[in-house]
Amino acid sequence: MTSTATTLKPIAPVDLAAERASLGPALHEAVLRTLDSGKYVLGPEVEALERDFAKFHGVAHGVAVATGTDALWLGLLAIGVKPCDDVVTSPFTFFASAASIALMGARPVLADVDLDTALLDPAKARAALTPRTTCILPVHLYGQLADMKAFRALCDEKKLFLLEDGAQAHGSRRDGAACGTLGDAGTFSFYVTKNLGAAGEGGMVLTQRADVAKNLRELRDHGSPAKYVHARIGTNSRLQALQAAVLNVKLPHLERWNERRRHNAARYDRNLAGHPAIGLMKVVPGAFHTYHQYTVRVCGERTRDAVLADLAAQQIFAGVHYPSPVHLQEAAKPWGYGPGDFPNAERLAREVLCLPVHPFLSDSDIDRVSAALLAAAR
Ligand SMILES: Cc1ncc(COP(=O)(O)O)c(C=O)c1O
Repeated sequence: MTSTATTLKPIAPVDLAAERASLGPALHEAVLRTLDSGKYVLGPEVEALERDFAKFHGVAHGVAVATGTDALWLGLLAIGVKPCDDVVTSPFTFFASAASIALMGARPVLADVDLDTALLDPAKARAALTPRTTCILPVHLYGQLADMKAFRALCDEKKLFLLEDGAQAHGSRRDGAACGTLGDAGTFSFYVTKNLGAAGEGGMVLTQRADVAKNLRELRDHGSPAKYVHARIGTNSRLQALQAAVLNVKLPHLERWNERRRHNAARYDRNLAGHPAIGLMKVVPGAFHTYHQYTVRVCGERTRDAVLADLAAQQIFAGVHYPSPVHLQEAAKPWGYGPGDFPNAERLAREVLCLPVHPFLSDSDIDRVSAALLAAAR
């Protein structure tokens, strides 16, 4: 590391200290109030979060669970997918999207993504349908919604369920509709680093269907419609009140934080446009992208790892989401795929680089990252 690098302010993918400072004493007060309440699991804080998070997205019902992964596999069960069914999803996502299908006993069937958006391609999903397919699970990667109108039409035509993975899409919309609006349900993660993050783990399912919400309330509590009555096998996935209290303090800021992410992204777009070694991702017309990640493709002569190392030497810490597609993971072997099966996912895994875009970055931070990237990716 050079001596100038050591004096530079680090720029990282998240700045939790800045976020906490911006909230003043509200977080600490909410945590202490919840501790004093003695209501630690579900209860009024969780109910308020379910109500307000659903309202924020314009969806009828919210059911909180312990993690985004639970939201996915319990969501699949709640909408009606059965073990041994096939569920079509993306090979370019966090592993949990596909693993959740296997977790509830179904088989993940993969279909390639669009190279320009990294989102599941509806035509490829159609081509991947099998006689046992009962559900499609698009992932709203990086904060941009998949083509839900196309997936809704396909699922109506083929009589399939539709579950949306919105773990990276808090507040995102496409043609005005949020995650959970057009699908049978939409799932969210409140992991620390998400656009709306807990002080730990958390998840939520949004749905317009009252029957799905009821199923989820039972499934997250050992299949229990009433105390010590167990109508089906479920699990323990009840959100902790302390996490809900933290999220309730942060939720009123989400819209402003998302706007700042969009501002930062627009600045990157302007700074990086037209450079042959940097490929910008496509934002589709009608998308309200909330930039959980601001992603570019490194497609010049220098490798992505070389670019990453140059940035790190400048105290700029970019991410790679994700360095391996789902189908080339060891755990995915039983699903029967191999190298070359999903060329777009494989190429994205080689090329993507996610630049810091969080709401606590200044314009000069964005300019510093842009300049360092352009210098590195020749
Ligand atoms: C696309 C996607 N799906 C699912 C998950 C799983 O959420 P959790 O980590 O809360 O279980 C994540 C979390 O990173 C994610 O990014």
